[in-house]
Amino acid sequence: MNDPSDPRKNDKLTRRDFIRSSATAGLGIALAGSSLADQTAGQKPGGAELKSADEVRIGIIGTGEQGRVLLESCLRIPGIRIAALCDIWEYSRQYASGYLRKYGQNPVAYEDYRDMLAKAPGLDAAIVATPDWMHAEHANACLEAGLHVYCEKEMSNSLEKARSMVDTARRTKKLLQIGHQRRSNPRYVHAIDRLMREKRLLGRVNLAYAQWNRSKADMLGWPKKYVMGQAVLLKYGYDSMVEFRNWRWYRKFGGGPIVDLGSHQIDLFSWVFGVNPASVVASGGVDYYKNREWFDNAMAIFEFETKEGAARAFYQVQTTTAHGGFYETFMGDDGSLVISEVPQRGNWALREAHAPEWDSLVKDGLLLTEAAPIQKLETRNIFLDVRVTAETGRWPLPVELAKPAHQPHLENFFSAVRNGTPLSCPAGIAYESAVAVLKVNEAVKNRSLIRFRPEQFKA
Ligand SMILES: NC(=O)c1ccc[n+]([C@@H]2O[C@H](COP(=O)([O-])OP(=O)(O)OC[C@H]3O[C@@H](n4cnc5c(N)ncnc54)[C@H](O)[C@@H]3O)[C@@H](O)[C@H]2O)c1
Repeated sequence: MNDPSDPRKNDKLTRRDFIRSSATAGLGIALAGSSLADQTAGQKPGGAELKSADEVRIGIIGTGEQGRVLLESCLRIPGIRIAALCDIWEYSRQYASGYLRKYGQNPVAYEDYRDMLAKAPGLDAAIVATPDWMHAEHANACLEAGLHVYCEKEMSNSLEKARSMVDTARRTKKLLQIGHQRRSNPRYVHAIDRLMREKRLLGRVNLAYAQWNRSKADMLGWPKKYVMGQAVLLKYGYDSMVEFRNWRWYRKFGGGPIVDLGSHQIDLFSWVFGVNPASVVASGGVDYYKNREWFDNAMAIFEFETKEGAARAFYQVQTTTAHGGFYETFMGDDGSLVISEVPQRGNWALREAHAPEWDSLVKDGLLLTEAAPIQKLETRNIFLDVRVTAETGRWPLPVELAKPAHQPHLENFFSAVRNGTPLSCPAGIAYESAVAVLKVNEAVKNRSLIRFRPEQFKA
C-alpha cells in the first residue's frame, strides 16, 4: 500500500522534522501544567515549566463523550499539552475546560474550528472526535494547516469523504491515524500477530464471529439550560436538538449501529485473515424503534479468499438485548480464540483435542497454563460424542492492559509524531476497513450479495 500517512514511508524524517514541519509549530516556549501523567510520576501538580523538547501541543475538535475519553487518556501521557479545544456546544466546551483545569491545563476554547486553526498558536497535532459526517472536513482542514491528526472512527460516513482524507494526508505529508484502537492494544496485537499469525496457534483459521449487543435505550436528551438556538443548529447542519444529540441514528450524519459498533470489530477480520473481504451479504431493519433512520439491527456474512482457502466471518449488532455483550471469536482447525476489549468477556484460547500441544507456548510465556476443565454434568438422557465435543479447557492469554483502552493508540500516534515510528492504523488501512463496513448498509438495503473488487479498497 502506498500510504504517505504511514510514517514507514517517512522513516528518514527525524522527530524534529515531524514536529517542525507543522506549519503552525515551533513558537517555542509554552507553559505546561500538570497532568495525570505528572501525578503518576510523582511530580508536583500545577508547577509551570518551559516547553520541553518532547512536548506535543494539541487541539481537540469535538469534546463530547468520546472527546472526553481521549482527553482523559492524553492526560496520562507525559508531554502532551492540550492547548486548544473546540466544540459548537457550550455544554461540551465547559465540561472539557473544567475537567482539564483540574489538571492544570488551560486550553483556549473555540466554537468554530476555523478560529482554532487561525488563532491557537504552536499546535503540532489535532484530535478530531466530532460526529462521523464532519470528520473529513475537520481532519482535512487540520492537515492542510500543517497538523498531524488523530481522527476517530468511522473515518467518515461516506467513502468519497474518507478517500479525500487519505488524499489530503498524502499530499500534505502529515500523519493521519484513525481511531480503531484495538490495533494498538497489546492484548489484540499478541492474540492476532503473535499467536494466530506468527505461531499459527489455531491452525488454519476459516471462521470468525463477532457481535456487539446492547440493551434498548431511549434517544439522548440534553440539559434544558444548554439548548442550542435554532440558528446555531442550522448553521452547523442540524435541524433540531434531537438530531444534534442523536446523530448516530440519522443517515446524513452517521451509519447507524453497524457502522458505529461494527467498525471496531469488522476491522479485525481483515487483520486476522490478511486480506480484505471478497463479498458481503446482510440482513437488517428498523424493526424495533420508531423515528430512527438507520437499521436498529443487522447481521452480515463476509467471505474471504485467504492464502489457505475460503474463510467466512459472521457479524451481528443488536440494540434491544445485551445478550453476550461485545467480543470477537476466531476459529481454526486446531483451536479457537475469544477476545474482547473487556477481558472478562474474552481473553482465552481453546485447543481442539487432536491439536499439537501448547506447552511450549506456555514455557515461552505466550500463553498461560490451561485452566481446570469445566466439570461436565452427567445426564441420563443426552448422548454426547466426546470425540468431537470435548474442550480441553481455557488457556488464558498472558498480556494485560493496565491502561484505558484508547491510551496505547494515542501513544502510538504521539510516538509517530515525535519519532516517526509506524502508525498502527494509518488512513489507508482505515479506508480499507471503511469500505467493508459501509457496504454492509448497502447490502442490507439491496437485499443482495455485494462482491468486492480488490481495487475498491485502494483510496
Ligand atoms: N473509538 C471508540 O471507541 C469510540 C467510542 C465512541 C465514539 N467514537 C467516535 O467518536 C466520535 C464522537 O462520538 P461521541 O460519542 O463523542 O459523540 P457526541 O455526540 O457525544 O460528541 C460529539 C461532539 O462533537 C460536537 N460537534 C458536533 N459538530 C461539531 C462541529 N461542526 N464542530 C465542533 N464540534 C462539533 C458536539 O457538540 C459534541 O460535543 C464519533 O465519530 C464516534 O464514532 C469512538
